Formats: sequence, structure tokens, C-alpha cells
Amino acid sequence: MDISSTYGFVLLITCCLFGLINAYGNGRVESACSTMLPQHGANAQTSTAPYTLVLSKTTYSANEQITVTLKGSSQFEGVFMQARSGSSATPLGTFTVTGSDLQTLTCTSAASAVSHTSSNLKSSVTTTWVAPNINSDVQIRATVVQSEKVFWTNVLSCTLTYNATSASGTGTSCSSPGNNSVQFSASILVVTLLATMLTWLLRQ
Ligand SMILES: *[C@@H]1O[C@H](CO)[C@@H](O)[C@H](O)[C@H]1NC(C)=O
Ligand SMILES: *[C@@H]1O[C@H](CO)[C@@H](O)[C@H](O)[C@H]1NC(C)=O
Repeated sequence: MDISSTYGFVLLITCCLFGLINAYGNGRVESACSTMLPQHGANAQTSTAPYTLVLSKTTYSANEQITVTLKGSSQFEGVFMQARSGSSATPLGTFTVTGSDLQTLTCTSAASAVSHTSSNLKSSVTTTWVAPNINSDVQIRATVVQSEKVFWTNVLSCTLTYNATSASGTGTSCSSPGNNSVQFSASILVVTLLATMLTWLLRQ
């Protein structure tokens, strides 16, 4: 490659990176619907997230509205939330938002995820999850971006269990600390795999 094409290449990459960062600043992160990972060129933090998801109830029935609040000990720029069951990557139910901090996104269906509208620092965000007509244990799952390269994924709420008469009761709220053990063991697996491959290659 000659000098000018090298410069051209570097320029192209730089533009692409800026494009990506800007695209994520406005929270239009549909490309992360299944992994829930931001493409910031950084790994998720392995420590316990300094964020908590608070639910207004621990049971739901079809179409019941559950208030979901994300808050923490440090402010954050971005958030991406879905409701999921077990290890399934299919988002469940729909979200409604009020105010200008959050917007709904279309993942597998309309309004099945929420994200931030700007990277302005926030102390907490609140949204309403409208339960689907299913009988399954559900958890709200969040990825929280503190700053461009610092984020936690798999921040989980308490488990919401199905109860056909849930709407008639008052219920109790619950809150759950962030947990990244899944992500952490996945990184260990990748590192181990790479080390094994390298050892094998060196022996050839
Ligand atoms: C379902 O919810 C109702 C209303 O809150 C409550 O009285 C009942 O005990 C719940 N049933 C179960 C199985 O938790
Ligand atoms: C995190 O999740 C793992 C497995 O899902 C569990 O064993 C562990 O107790 C959890 N830690 C916290 C702080 O919730």
C-alpha cells in the first residue's frame, strides 16, 4: 500500500468509528437487539454493576403494567433494556415511556426494548413494562453505559412470576443488584480458547 492509500484507509476507518459513536449516542441501537452489547470496542466490566433495577411488583398477569426504574450510585450515559425469560434472547411484552430520556425500539416486535435518547448523564430512568399474555418467569435485563468504554451488561431485575390474579393484588416491589457473572465466565472461556489455540499453533 502506498502512502496515500494508507492515509485514505485510516481516514475511512476514523470516519466509520465516528459514525458508530454518533449512532450510539442517540440510542438507536437496534443492531444490539440480541447481544445487548454496545459496539464501543471495549469489554463489559466484570465487577458487580453499580446499578439496580427496581420493579413495582414481583408478579404479573396479561397486560399488567409494571414500573421499572434503573438507578445507581453513579450517573450513566446510556441504557438498553428488554424483558426476557431465562436464557431466551426474545424480548417479551412492550414498554411505554414518558419524558424525553428514553425511547422505545423495535427488536423482534414494536416497543420490545427501550434505550436512551442522548448521552447526557442521567441518575435514574423509569419506564413501564406491559406484560404479554404468557405464563413464564420474566426478568428485565439491562445494559448500562457509564461512559463510552465503561459498561455493564446482564444487569437483571428480580424475577417476575406469572399470576393470573396478580392485577387484583397490591403486590410487593423488589430491587436487584447488577450481576455480570455470565459475561465474566464467557470472557474466561474466550481467553482459554485463544490460549489453547495459540499453544497448538506454536507447537506446529
Ligand atoms: C396471586 O395474586 C393474588 C393477588 O395478589 C394473591 O392473593 C395470590 O396469593 C397469588 N397467588 C400465588 C400463587 O402467588
Ligand atoms: C449472580 O448470578 C450468579 C448466577 O446467575 C449467582 O450465583 C450469584 O449469586 C449472583 N450474584 C449476585 C450478586 O446477585
